[in-house]
Amino acid sequence: MIERVESIVPQAEDGSVILAQLSDPHLFADRDNVFLGINPYNSLSQVVRQLSDEPGVDLVLASGDLSQDHSEASYRQFADLVAPLGKPVVALPGNHDAINFMARSLADTQVAMPPRVMMGDWQMILLNSAVTGLPSGHVPLIQQSWLKRILEETEETPTLIALHHHPVPTNCAWLDQHSLDNGQEFLALLSRYPQVKAVLFGHIHQEMDCHVGGLRLLAVPSTSIQFLPRSRGFVLDSRQPGYRLLRLYPDGSIDTQVKRLTGGEFVPDPSASGY
Ligand SMILES: [Fe+2]
Repeated sequence: MIERVESIVPQAEDGSVILAQLSDPHLFADRDNVFLGINPYNSLSQVVRQLSDEPGVDLVLASGDLSQDHSEASYRQFADLVAPLGKPVVALPGNHDAINFMARSLADTQVAMPPRVMMGDWQMILLNSAVTGLPSGHVPLIQQSWLKRILEETEETPTLIALHHHPVPTNCAWLDQHSLDNGQEFLALLSRYPQVKAVLFGHIHQEMDCHVGGLRLLAVPSTSIQFLPRSRGFVLDSRQPGYRLLRLYPDGSIDTQVKRLTGGEFVPDPSASGY
């Protein structure tokens, strides 16, 4: 990586930070490859084009599953596609990524993989919940210990936690088999630290915004295929690829919304029964 993005200075005069979250591009080495009816290279290109018109974005988070085919070329394509944003980009691994290979593949690009980013008055902690060979996730004890230490040292700092897997059920039975397997333990840990304002994740390829205790849980649509909410089995959704914008205020409050592409160009394969 060219540089480790360890801190950013927000552009807004009120000290607020604007963060954009992208997730689950599932890129292939071959940019013409179509994934369940959608070309993920083209859909991410269009998401980036729309995002580039959003004013004031300070930082971009990519919350995993950058690659579908585990190729170095797919990671390089991700870096090339987000480069025109001209913003710092930080990434964490999903179940389709292997952290060491991903880091090597993104070396010498502008996409960094720091464990923590200071953002004005806020911090964001990036975790690796991927488990080799499994679609489900886990936050291991070693990361929990590290996380506790950071949170104990930063009690006054409003904090976002970012990871790939969902720590609570989505009401999609097929996806909930592949959740964070120690989600309850993880949320219990976070609930002891009131400076943690929200948890950001991807993996479920759909929007989610709920509270568990005082903690806000936020998921983002994929930049490629969408999964239909509240479906027992695997069903694709015709909603369009999208991203999340978050404005983080110095008092610890958050404004957030999901934005999607308009125009209905990306139509999933209706016969797809899994991936
Ligand atoms: Fe994914």
